[in-house]
Amino acid sequence: MKNTVSVAPMMDCTDRHARFFLRLISRNVMLYSEMVATKSAIHGDRSKILAFNTEEKPLALQVGGSDKRELSEVAKIAEDMGYDEININLGCPSKKVQKNMFGACLMKKPDLVAECISEMINSCKIPVTAKTRIGFDDTEDFHYLNKFILKMKAAGCKTFILHARKAILKGLSPKQNLNIPKLNYEMVYKIKKENPDLEIIINGGITKTEEIKNHLKLCDGVMIGRAIYQNPYFLIDVEKEIFKIKNHPSREEIVEKLLQYLEKEVNLGTKVNHIMRHTVGLYHGKIGSKNWKRYLSDNMMARDSDFQKAKHIMTIVQNNEKANQTNS
Ligand SMILES: Cc1cc2nc3c(=O)[nH]c(=O)nc-3n(C[C@H](O)[C@H](O)[C@H](O)COP(=O)(O)O)c2cc1C
Repeated sequence: MKNTVSVAPMMDCTDRHARFFLRLISRNVMLYSEMVATKSAIHGDRSKILAFNTEEKPLALQVGGSDKRELSEVAKIAEDMGYDEININLGCPSKKVQKNMFGACLMKKPDLVAECISEMINSCKIPVTAKTRIGFDDTEDFHYLNKFILKMKAAGCKTFILHARKAILKGLSPKQNLNIPKLNYEMVYKIKKENPDLEIIINGGITKTEEIKNHLKLCDGVMIGRAIYQNPYFLIDVEKEIFKIKNHPSREEIVEKLLQYLEKEVNLGTKVNHIMRHTVGLYHGKIGSKNWKRYLSDNMMARDSDFQKAKHIMTIVQNNEKANQTNS
């Protein structure tokens, strides 16, 4: 599998409904789940925590943990459930995650990480990949990162997603950790240059197709988080310019298909707002963006919004489409 462009795992964002919606826009990007802790995956209600729609594929499960037995069990569960990849989170800096010994603090424990990866690889046949930062706290050093990667490579890992900024484990919130440490793409390029046999995917601050093209000259793949969640239709540019796909769905076609999904899901007990909240950015940067957001918040964001409220949504979409066509 080649993850040329992927949508980053994002807690509270990339749940199964968001992924279904994103897949309506792009057939070709790789999708990731939110991070799931090993204990939840093993002991929780899998139909809620891990279930997905086959339409979402190709899909990776991201897991957080540092207990090799638990991690290997989750890798097997992921494979059995039909996920295409299992990814270990070695980049999250939150306090809670550190307390549970997973995420970015594991960059300090390369031997433990290598053991975990080795056990995961032994228990499943799907690719085991790692998502990490380029450093932590005062350590932003090529040799440290390269050694860390080589340890994981020796354990059998071949694909690395590198968020091109270090994690500050004390003193910054997770949100600040996504913006304050400086991006250092050169470090990622250098890792690829030093390890041409590894698949290196670059992540962090990428927002334009031109940037994707430039990164792809020096890395194997690009992962994008916020720019896609905030502006999901950006994926159409990715389809056109990166994957060279000529036919692409209009926003109207996307909403029509989403409504069919919404109706099916609502009949199964899903709340309308749990699906529609992911569509807030559909008109990002376009005429009608305000109308769209207002319509959603007035009709579809309340906890008890019912499907009937969705009936007029196509009128908003059609008006927006007309307004944008007249303007273009
Ligand atoms: C709301 C939010 C939640 C996130 N949750 C996760 C997560 O569960 N696992 C993970 O590895 N990274 C998580 N991240 C980090 C993203 O995967 C990504 O590395 C980061 O946003 C940088 O990429 P971007 O600049 O393209 O957004 C999260 C980021 C955001 C904004």
